[in-house]
Amino acid sequence: KKIGVVIVAAGSGNRFGDPIPKQYHTLGGKTLLGHCIECFARHTSPELVQVVYNPAHQNWYDGAIAALGADITTLPAPIGGGVTRQQSVLNGLRALSARKPDIVLIHDAARPGISDDVITRVIKALETHAGAIPTLPVADTIKQTSRDGVITKTIPRDTLQRAQTPQGFVFETILAAHEQFEGQEFTDDAALLEELGLDVMCVEGTSANDKITKRDDFDRAHDWIDSTNK
Ligand code: C5P
Repeated sequence: KKIGVVIVAAGSGNRFGDPIPKQYHTLGGKTLLGHCIECFARHTSPELVQVVYNPAHQNWYDGAIAALGADITTLPAPIGGGVTRQQSVLNGLRALSARKPDIVLIHDAARPGISDDVITRVIKALETHAGAIPTLPVADTIKQTSRDGVITKTIPRDTLQRAQTPQGFVFETILAAHEQFEGQEFTDDAALLEELGLDVMCVEGTSANDKITKRDDFDRAHDWIDSTNK
């Protein structure tokens, strides 16, 4: 099967008040985006790895690519993203469609701790499902609250999973779903298949693959880089 990859890196990503968007911060000499590109390029050919970026970040993007090994020279030119993550994904899928992948893995550049094992599990689950995503069980008890903060419900913890990426899909199915729901709000890609009543399988994620959002997360990622010496 031909495996396509969309890595979304078009977010402004400076929630912690830093001028450099988080996907262009470095860990162990490579940017978060660079770590992601290298890991996915090991599972398909680099020509099938489509990065979605903000053209205003061109210099940072060029720097990220320059730090990578020579084997990724055939990476296609990045495509511009949209205002929402969902629009960025759609732009990436459209760009990839000319290269006709059978399946596609959609990944957040803010998850540099992605590993070969997680990618392999997602690809394997796609042999029997239209969609597959890595998840982790929830450790805390989750409360539903009213707008003013009063608890309205406790959700049984054993029914909950935290969704990560890469989220994998049959390419034509997820492209059609994104086209159909363009403009409606979804926070991940699996939600579109759920909306269509299609089964999405959960496989085991890892805590190293948690999204980097806050300053603390960087410290955690540094520990991970030290431990894997990547
Ligand atoms: O903002 P958030 O952390 O949810 O973003 C998840 C991923 O989606 C990040 O890698 C970010 O760069 C990307 N994104 C995007 N286009 C947007 C918003 C987010 O590519 N408009």
